Amino acid sequence: MYISKSSVILTTAASLASALNFAEYSNKEFDAVKRNLPDIEIIKPRQALCPAVWTQVATELSTTFLNTTDLLCNDDARAAIRAAFHDCASWNTSVTGGCDGSLILAPEELTRSENNGLQNIGPKLLALTQKYQAIDPSVTAADMIQFASSVAIVICPLGPRVQTFVGRNDSSTANIEGLLPDVNAPSADLITLFANKGITAAELIALVGAHSTSKQFHVNETQVGAPQDDTPGTWDVDFYADTTSKPTGVFVLASDASLAADPQTSATFQGFVGNQGKWNGAFTPAMTKLGLLGIAGGSTGMIDCTSVVPLPRVVPRSLVKSQPIMDRI
Ligand code: HEM
Ligand SMILES: *[C@@H]1O[C@H](CO)[C@@H](O)[C@H](O)[C@H]1NC(C)=O
Ligand SMILES: *[C@@H]1O[C@H](CO)[C@@H](O)[C@H](O)[C@H]1NC(C)=O
Ligand SMILES: *[C@@H]1O[C@H](CO)[C@@H](O)[C@H](O)[C@H]1NC(C)=O
Ligand SMILES: *[C@@H]1O[C@H](CO)[C@@H](O)[C@H](O)[C@H]1NC(C)=O
Repeated sequence: MYISKSSVILTTAASLASALNFAEYSNKEFDAVKRNLPDIEIIKPRQALCPAVWTQVATELSTTFLNTTDLLCNDDARAAIRAAFHDCASWNTSVTGGCDGSLILAPEELTRSENNGLQNIGPKLLALTQKYQAIDPSVTAADMIQFASSVAIVICPLGPRVQTFVGRNDSSTANIEGLLPDVNAPSADLITLFANKGITAAELIALVGAHSTSKQFHVNETQVGAPQDDTPGTWDVDFYADTTSKPTGVFVLASDASLAADPQTSATFQGFVGNQGKWNGAFTPAMTKLGLLGIAGGSTGMIDCTSVVPLPRVVPRSLVKSQPIMDRI
């Protein structure tokens, strides 16, 4: 067995580690994956140490997001990643709100059609917030939502560790409706919508790659659970190829098809096809930025808790065999 920094995961999520067969993963494969991850050594806690409670949260969430049967990330994981997006992105530079926990604290927000699909994960994240707030009152719903997303991403095979801060304030005032993207909006409108949140077109293309682990439940209710790529339990780049090639069984969102075809974004979109390292490198900083929308000063004064987000999983080849990822990177 190859002993590496990733063996830390054994102590942070013993149940998870025991479910995995690390021995199946060779040195060569591990190095191939590691080369394409952000350099975790340079991510250092800044203003203060991460409160100890987040280590406990990470352990619980690691179990929550893993399907112990197929060892892929599960429906709660994909919903948590989307929840992080929806809490923050119901905001633009001329309004207040953003990453403030209101998605789960303001009862109205989850009832909106724009949040359809988040009605199961919302109360789970709220219950976790309350549970861990009782242990450490510094825990906020806004932080729980972003932290859960980071754990969910890394529990998906091939998922990277996203730099993750805590220190957000909560608000139970609902954010403005209508600032989340419409699946039927043309690419130009989507690009403008995100630009008004300070997210560039290139960052948007990296972020929609989260549809690598996505399933649709409400766009077409005759195809409930249809995924947006052929491997929704894996954080791979098949989404970027599948959006154009539309394999049988894959449900391509109109918004993704539009962004893939737009001359302003198509080269960026195609650039991620078959290039896991390039996507991870673009996705992780964009996701950190998304997790700070609406917070004056950004990460200034916040606490870097990246070190307690589990390390990327060392996954057996059998989990990614349907796509020759290891041969491509
Ligand atoms: C142009 C921008 C976007 C549009 C129009 C869009 C639209 C959608 C739609 C319509 C669904 C299916 C929901 C359902 O039917 O239940 C979905 C799912 C999802 N989206 Fe997006 N999305 C966008 C960007 C993003 C971003 C930036 C992220 C995260 C970084 C994200 C993460 C997800 C995830 C993880 C799911 C799967 C949820 C689940 O399976 O429960 N999306 N999105
Ligand atoms: C776990 O994975 C198995 C095999 O793919 C699937 O049948 C089952 O529904 C999944 N369970 C959950 C809770 O997602
Ligand atoms: C949280 O609220 C306090 C009090 O209003 C403020 O001083 C602080 O800057 C806020 N923190 C963030 C991260 O927005
Ligand atoms: C932000 O959203 C509000 C409410 O929809 C809208 O009136 C305003 O024009 C938007 N501002 C920007 C910069 O997009
Ligand atoms: C939903 O999917 C079904 C089955 O593929 C299709 O016949 C129908 O036209 C779709 N509905 C919409 C609104 O796209």
